[in-house]
Amino acid sequence: MKIFLDTADIEEIRAAARWGVLDGVTTNPSLYAKVSNGAPYEQILADACKITSGPVSAEVVADDVEGMLSEGRAFAKIAKNIYVKVAMSENGLEAISRFRAEGIKTNCTLVFSTNQGLLAAKAGASLISPFVGRLDDINEDGMIVIRELAEIFAIHEIDSEILAASIRGPLHMTQAALAGAHIATLPFKVLQQMIHHPLTDKGIATFKADWAKAQAEVAAAGH
Ligand code: E4P
Repeated sequence: MKIFLDTADIEEIRAAARWGVLDGVTTNPSLYAKVSNGAPYEQILADACKITSGPVSAEVVADDVEGMLSEGRAFAKIAKNIYVKVAMSENGLEAISRFRAEGIKTNCTLVFSTNQGLLAAKAGASLISPFVGRLDDINEDGMIVIRELAEIFAIHEIDSEILAASIRGPLHMTQAALAGAHIATLPFKVLQQMIHHPLTDKGIATFKADWAKAQAEVAAAGH
């Protein structure tokens, strides 16, 4: 199970890489807008690609096929590990299929149904991104899409990888892993929530205190 960071914040990407748990990065226009501070999107993508050798998703915003191709080809020139992120649509499928023919890897985004995921795989997307949290938000069980796609891809030996996106908390991560997602992309905060546990923090504090007490006794004994 691979873990991607769902962020355009370079410091967050650096931290996850230092922790040894980073397999890739997903960005989108909203994540970029949060941190851009005047920096071009391409610069942030280039920096991310230097930190991880795993896939870094760069999202196109054009609606027409030629526009998607032109934006995606430019992103693909930034680094070998760029995956062009294309939203599910009729034009999106065509662009994914054309990128595939050109050897450019893609991530089909804004997938909300199993059939959309199946079509994205047929068109040649390397990564398929069902949005779990946004489905949960409208009172649907987003994890069903992950589970059904995992089963279909296994039955039909489909190579595309299922990337659980729109992850809202640590429980989503566990559920996505159990449902058969190949990858989950996490906000930095969720990654931190996965690390911490109150009993771990309490245990560390107790060990430190006991160690200090024992060392004081060693010193008092004149050693
Ligand atoms: C990832 O590729 C998606 O862009 C992202 O997970 C969307 O998450 P959100 O629903 O929290 O915006």
